[in-house]
Amino acid sequence: MLLEVKNLSVDFKVGRQTLRAVNNVSFSLGERDSLGLVGESGCGKSTTAFALMRLLASNGSISEGQILLNGVDLAAASYDEIRKVRWKDISIIFQNAMTALNPVQKIGDQIINALREHEDVSKKEAIERAEYLFERVGIAKSRLMQYPHEFSGGMKQRAVIALALICSPKILIADEPTTALDVVAQRQVIELLAGLQDEFNISIVMISHDISAVAEACRSIAVMYGGEIMEQGRSKDVLIQNNHPYTHALVGSFPSLHKPLSTLAQIPGGAPNLADMPAGCPFSPRCAYAAELCGREKPDSRRVRLNKLCKCHYAEELDFNKKGG
Ligand SMILES: Nc1ncnc2c1ncn2[C@@H]1O[C@H](COP(=O)(O)OP(=O)(O)OP(=O)(O)O)[C@@H](O)[C@H]1O
Ligand SMILES: [Mg+2]
Repeated sequence: MLLEVKNLSVDFKVGRQTLRAVNNVSFSLGERDSLGLVGESGCGKSTTAFALMRLLASNGSISEGQILLNGVDLAAASYDEIRKVRWKDISIIFQNAMTALNPVQKIGDQIINALREHEDVSKKEAIERAEYLFERVGIAKSRLMQYPHEFSGGMKQRAVIALALICSPKILIADEPTTALDVVAQRQVIELLAGLQDEFNISIVMISHDISAVAEACRSIAVMYGGEIMEQGRSKDVLIQNNHPYTHALVGSFPSLHKPLSTLAQIPGGAPNLADMPAGCPFSPRCAYAAELCGREKPDSRRVRLNKLCKCHYAEELDFNKKGG
């Protein structure tokens, strides 16, 4: 397995409190694999991504678990070891990708410098590779030496993808690569990433609020809530035949190509407060199906289908859309 995350927990110190933003999360990613990390704002998606890159804010730390990249534990690695891994093994497109570009430096120079910092290549080869990537992400190579302000939002997004790929990483983490774009541009970026995966032999972790967009692009999905993975498995099994009330609500709250807009439903209530989590299932206060047990006892993650794990006391009974539609 290329990447195996085992029982990862991340804590933030805030004043005297310790907040657990990622709680006992496990998933794996194979070669040329793709995983979608979905869930509402604040559920811990970016924190999980930052933990993988060891880029947590200074008040955050990995308190438990392992991040095995080809068997080497990044959670326990030294700063020097991590530096070697970034860009070349794991590369990230940050959530605020538009600001990832330096406004006063030509985009091409930014890409070329990143490459030459990590690989011993001539300037000529670096330019050629950058030009190739530019064309591959859909920008004319003649625009390589322009400044970020000369690019539209969608082009900047594509340039940031080229930047993230220039060192040929094995894993690309794309944190909400599309929020700043309109719906059509969003789909295009997701399709682009899925297309690049084949050509570049990369594995992708795609982070998004939009479960149906991610399900189309990724082999598997992990649905997060309150720092935990509530349901995970093959995309189709999670999207269509969900067993968790949260997944079910999330699917219902996003537009899909397959259902009319009028069926969109907001999930009542807000994201949980990490400083005041319920004793039982974190979703129980908002769950339409919650019983007394749910507020009292934390459910374990268990296999409910061949290709799926679910963390709900009533997962089997709540097999939504049993017939797949
Ligand atoms: N440096 C920090 N100090 C304290 N709490 C933090 C810090 N960074 C993140 N958090 C908290 O951790 C939780 C998870 O945040 P995270 O940014 O990972 O969510 P997310 O799923 O990426 O949300 P979004 O979809 O809005 O990007 C939130 O409750 C957030 O407030
Ligand atoms: Mg985020």
